[in-house]
Amino acid sequence: MTAEHTPDDGSFMGRTVGVFDAGIGGLPIARAVTRSLPGVAISYLADSGRRPYGPQPGATVARYVRQAERFFADQGVDVWVIACNTASVVAPATDERLVPCVDMVEAVGRVLPPATAGRVALLGTLGTIVSGAIPRAYPDHDWVPMPTEALLRHAEEGDASSPAVADLLRQLRHELGRSGATHAVLACTDYTCILPAMIDALPGIALLDPLDGAVQAVCDIVRSVTTDATPTAAPESPGHELSVTGHHPVDIPALARETYGLEFTTTATVNIDLTES
Ligand code: DGL
Repeated sequence: MTAEHTPDDGSFMGRTVGVFDAGIGGLPIARAVTRSLPGVAISYLADSGRRPYGPQPGATVARYVRQAERFFADQGVDVWVIACNTASVVAPATDERLVPCVDMVEAVGRVLPPATAGRVALLGTLGTIVSGAIPRAYPDHDWVPMPTEALLRHAEEGDASSPAVADLLRQLRHELGRSGATHAVLACTDYTCILPAMIDALPGIALLDPLDGAVQAVCDIVRSVTTDATPTAAPESPGHELSVTGHHPVDIPALARETYGLEFTTTATVNIDLTES
């Protein structure tokens, strides 16, 4: 079991958590981490110039993940989270990481019910579903894999109230009903953008959000590396940094501020292709 630790002053000032996603899916994880670890700084990397990841070949996405890892290693973060299921399934965390890492495959395991609880629908991008990585990681569960690529393309553009989303959710409800699933794992961080609509549209299905598992895992690591003796060359308040690799249809700083209460003090456009060794 990982050591639980909170410094005497209750502050994680001087600690930095890297959060990586193709776009906006990591923002709720970043918000939850800042709430659980007061004083922690977030370095958020959105690979907005190369999204969406869902339809891209696994080997290509795996290369993006290696580049993100190098980026966070250069930044000197304490831990980083691959806040993207499509990226996590092609590059699950290993002990060889340059920086301690949490991925969404591990996070799913933290929110799964017992294998006897019933059929579990696995909702995600094409890449996540085709990889088969999550059912392979949890083989005792009775999985029903269901890609929802079209729904996710709307979700990541903040399109929650569009008629297209309502139609796609009606279809999903029908498919879930036919499948006999009692639970559904939201194996794409972008579902958070349309979560209230999903809860309304899918009554009777227990929706499991691995976001909570990812946040727990990040907090465990940060607490385990933080001791009272840890020198804190800390600023007055943590500065959250946003790095993007290109245009995103959503104004990420505004969404972060207005929806998640997360204020980025700097925004930079970066080319992480240059960071791969
Ligand atoms: N947020 C990513 C995930 O959790 C997917 C986004 C994309 O397809 O670009 O899978």
